[in-house]
Amino acid sequence: MVERISVIGLGKLGASMAACFAYRGFEVIGVDISPKVVDAVNSGKAPVQETGLDDLISANKERIRATLSHEEAVLNSDISFVIVPTPSDERGAFSLQYAAWAYKEIGKALAKKNGYHNVVLTSTVLPGSTRQVLMPVLEKESGKKAGKDFGVCYSPEFIALGSVIRDFLNPDFTLIGELDERCGEQLEQLYSKVVENGAPSARMSIENAELTKIAVNTFVTTKITFANMLAEICEKIPGGNVDVVTKALGMDSRIGHKYLKGALGYGGPCFPRDNIALSFIAKELGVSAELAKITDSMNRSIVGKVVEKVKKIANQGSTVAVLGLAYKPFSHVTEESQSIQIASALSKSGYRVVGYDPLAGEMALSDLHGQIVVLESAKRCLQQAEVVLITTPDPEFTKLKPEDFKNEFSKVTVIDFWRILKGILEDVPYVRYIPFGCSEDDQANTKRIREIWHFAKEEALKTVR
Ligand SMILES: NC(=O)c1ccc[n+]([C@@H]2O[C@H](COP(=O)([O-])OP(=O)(O)OC[C@H]3O[C@@H](n4cnc5c(N)ncnc54)[C@H](O)[C@@H]3O)[C@@H](O)[C@H]2O)c1
Repeated sequence: MVERISVIGLGKLGASMAACFAYRGFEVIGVDISPKVVDAVNSGKAPVQETGLDDLISANKERIRATLSHEEAVLNSDISFVIVPTPSDERGAFSLQYAAWAYKEIGKALAKKNGYHNVVLTSTVLPGSTRQVLMPVLEKESGKKAGKDFGVCYSPEFIALGSVIRDFLNPDFTLIGELDERCGEQLEQLYSKVVENGAPSARMSIENAELTKIAVNTFVTTKITFANMLAEICEKIPGGNVDVVTKALGMDSRIGHKYLKGALGYGGPCFPRDNIALSFIAKELGVSAELAKITDSMNRSIVGKVVEKVKKIANQGSTVAVLGLAYKPFSHVTEESQSIQIASALSKSGYRVVGYDPLAGEMALSDLHGQIVVLESAKRCLQQAEVVLITTPDPEFTKLKPEDFKNEFSKVTVIDFWRILKGILEDVPYVRYIPFGCSEDDQANTKRIREIWHFAKEEALKTVR
């Protein structure tokens, strides 16, 4: 029975997992190569910014400690979760460099350990990585046999930054890739004591689990991209409104409403790299993964289209406000954020860009130094802007009032990618409100669609005659 857990890699995901295990009553020992991270945990503080993490660590500090020593952690626990970075390499695959180093240290510790120990990889990897690359490292360094002396599992998490703790404790399911029955059973038992919602476990081979993890992420990105494509189509049909379409679409139980919005593209540390990695492994396996490739390229094409839209509205030198700089609301993370990419592209095209985000201002400044002026409020941005881009559906932006948009310009253009101010700005005389995904010019759209169907109409009328 598992009583003591080690968590190797106390970053954005690992630190929250360690805190959750401690909160659920387990003795937890965390390992990180960064002394700063180890010191933070040992003083009862969160080593990374994540909702609720500080409180959870400090409330459970008698059951959680950290060390720089993999050996100390392995010798003092029954199971190890490894959550180290697996950055994309130049081929688009996930690098195993950090994981291999961690497995080497764990292997050395296993050599000194009496009794069974389960080693669980949580980091995102491609099929084959755990069994073909990391397991041999454990066997070589320990001089022991996987399956007989220690367990090997692959068990990733499906969490979103900003809600890691809630998601970890309340998953839809837990995914367990197992070398054998023994290690899989032990992990399932453990999860049943950790999750708060009685989520079922999906147990399978390690390779199937490696594929399932990346398949979940890429499926979601495909769904997002599909809705974004519908939004573009809706802009070009008379009366088009993507919310009307996706609302009905989501009612189909085969489809569902989640991630079906029609807005800016996806970003963040995980989603953008997963389609590239999936196409890499598919190609290596001789399988066509055009769907993954096209999803990625459609998502990346959005930034350029937004810049072109702005160019049609305002001249170079004009001030554009970007409201929302993180890749999503309630986050300080700007990695692969489309707002950041838009701000940068606009600045390079000669626009003056001001921006605001409730949490990500500092990160945006360091990403975009010199390309953007980050202001302390949305209202301050609105005072200066001729064009306003609302790039995240942050609740703070939904509270903006028409008068907040009044400034020296006779008309301010607002492109609202999430349509959060539709009922508020639509009929304001000094605002040209452009809800993304809605027909902006019904007359032009009617003309275009009439032309498309002109020939068919003539043919149809002929048959009627
Ligand atoms: N962040 C997410 O939203 C998320 C979601 C699902 C999966 N993942 C996956 O989880 C893994 C970790 O992601 P993250 O965002 O937590 O990374 P991170 O960069 O925030 O944290 C990784 C931590 O591991 C430490 N580390 C590196 N090598 C180590 C070693 N040999 N031993 C001990 N510690 C070591 C680093 O110092 C760092 O503190 C990645 O594979 C990622 O793809 C992340």
